[in-house]
Amino acid sequence: MYRTHTCGELRAAHTGTETTLAGWVQTVRKFGSITFVDLRDRYGITQLVFSESLNQQLDEQPLGREFVLQATGAVVERTNKNPNIPTGDIEINVTSYKILNKSAVPPFTIQDDTDGGDDLRMKFRYLDLRRNAVKKNLELRYAVNRAARNYLHENHFMDIETPFLIKSTPEGARDFVVPSRMNQGQFYALPQSPQTFKQLLMVSGYDRYYQVVKCFRDEDLRADRQPEFTQIDCEMAFVEQEDILTMFEGMIKHIFREVKNVDITEKVQRMSWDEAMTRYGNDKPDIRFGMEITNLKSPFTGDDNATIAAAGFKVFDDAQTVLAISVPGCSEYTRKQTDELTDWVKRPQIGMNGLVFIKCNTDGSFKSSVDKFFDADKLKQLAADCKAQPGDLILILAGLEERTRKATSELRLEMGERLGMRKKDEFKLLWVLDFPLFEYAEADGDEPGRWVARHHPFTSPKPDHISIMINNNPVIEDQANYLSHPYAGIKANAYDMVLNGNEIGGGSIRIFQRELQEKMFAALGMSDEEARHKFGFLLGAFEYGAPPHGGIAFGFDRLCSIMGGSESIRDFIAFPKNNSGRDVMLDAPSEIDAKQKKELGLN
Ligand code: AMO
Repeated sequence: MYRTHTCGELRAAHTGTETTLAGWVQTVRKFGSITFVDLRDRYGITQLVFSESLNQQLDEQPLGREFVLQATGAVVERTNKNPNIPTGDIEINVTSYKILNKSAVPPFTIQDDTDGGDDLRMKFRYLDLRRNAVKKNLELRYAVNRAARNYLHENHFMDIETPFLIKSTPEGARDFVVPSRMNQGQFYALPQSPQTFKQLLMVSGYDRYYQVVKCFRDEDLRADRQPEFTQIDCEMAFVEQEDILTMFEGMIKHIFREVKNVDITEKVQRMSWDEAMTRYGNDKPDIRFGMEITNLKSPFTGDDNATIAAAGFKVFDDAQTVLAISVPGCSEYTRKQTDELTDWVKRPQIGMNGLVFIKCNTDGSFKSSVDKFFDADKLKQLAADCKAQPGDLILILAGLEERTRKATSELRLEMGERLGMRKKDEFKLLWVLDFPLFEYAEADGDEPGRWVARHHPFTSPKPDHISIMINNNPVIEDQANYLSHPYAGIKANAYDMVLNGNEIGGGSIRIFQRELQEKMFAALGMSDEEARHKFGFLLGAFEYGAPPHGGIAFGFDRLCSIMGGSESIRDFIAFPKNNSGRDVMLDAPSEIDAKQKKELGLN
């Protein structure tokens, strides 16, 4: 037997017990003739004491960091207790020990505050995983997984696996493809999600399906995106949107209760997509704080503020859109601070030409960067329009609609961050509903601008909007005014769950009639032949009694990272890829040899 206890288990009550522990050497400290060793395993750290009688053996077989050690001895109560660790009341008086394996000197310290940089830690990820901080993240991940599975099982969902070697299902990103040896010149695609399979399972009668499943998407990576990531993927038959929202609101609340001991009792807030875009400039608003957008001028909302319109200020007059936020308590910003904010909005990622500000002083007076155009009365009026309080700093951005709205949203988040309004231990859930069914994809070379599915092509329109789709030609004659095309106003039976400004899940009620699905493919510019070639199996299945159905998929990695208070999902994945999609430990992707290529029929 290698061990009788773990390194996290022994307490004062065990005093006198004979124990054998096995683990890794965290530290070796020699005091005179006595040697102290911290022995670590997954469960904790226990202090071992090697007395003088073992010195000869220690000299012959010295211990080093990360050696794998087995030690036997009696549990004794410490005179010098360590209140910082659970085993801090005891130590082991070692009578015999064995080095089970040696270790080279690790390239970084295996500690909470390691000296290893990101790349080094990823190259030696198996060592990084020994660190407490990473271990805690994986433990949280496992707890979330367990809680989700328990909830879904209790609610009669069935875990059914779906294949990884499939035909491409377009969901907006590029596919990863796998060459077939047995069918040379042909390729499988790795699934971007099990979307069509879960719908087929509904046709097959498995009316509650789930899977904790890998998805593969060849897209540009960010902190919250990995090329392979995990979804808690779910589908239900005989449901309407309300049934799905209730079921999965329940799941997320259950997870929070089980994993974080956080009881979210109130009903999750709901907001339409239009409202989210108007109030926050964003379809995944962070509602932990206010600082909502004032729409001074916008073709999206139809606003045209009279004070702005009458001022004769060219920047505002020439702009399609003028948006403002009132930042609390910042009216005393110095010139240096407002200059810095102006530089911030001019960065290429934000892309604005400048920033207008109005300081709403606590004495009731105003000072702005546009005093030439706005006298005290006009500033007062604007401040009232922006619902600004004395002490606020109003920040105004002007430009093209989409860019300005996005920039204002970013600026709001940045100011919220700077003012400490985005607390990591506060969790605010939100349903965003009624997304547009279509999104306009700009012209690309010879190809004119066209409609693409905002969610995916299987999402159903709102029942009232089906006739707009049936009765109108999808072709966009007037590309510059695509917003005036009837399709721009069609809303989907789709919903996203947002947590602290992150999209943690998304889904929809699906189309389940062949004719409407065909109409959808046509709207996306697919010929009948192409639709049959790509989705013949689904259209065929809809001929054989497809029930009404809908579902949702949660980004499991994202959910874990937000619950764990981290920006990066990589911290919650055992073996993640870096920002260039590389596994630096495996050194993948890599070349394959000529023989392999030949077998696959690749040149
Ligand atoms: P969607 O594409 O919205 O929907 O994905 C669902 C959720 O998965 C997470 N996610 C990601 N997480 C990490 N890295 C990525 N690259 C990544 N891409 C997406 C997000 C997102 O909310 N089949 C549909 C679901 C459905 O309709 O039921 C789908 O995949 O948190």
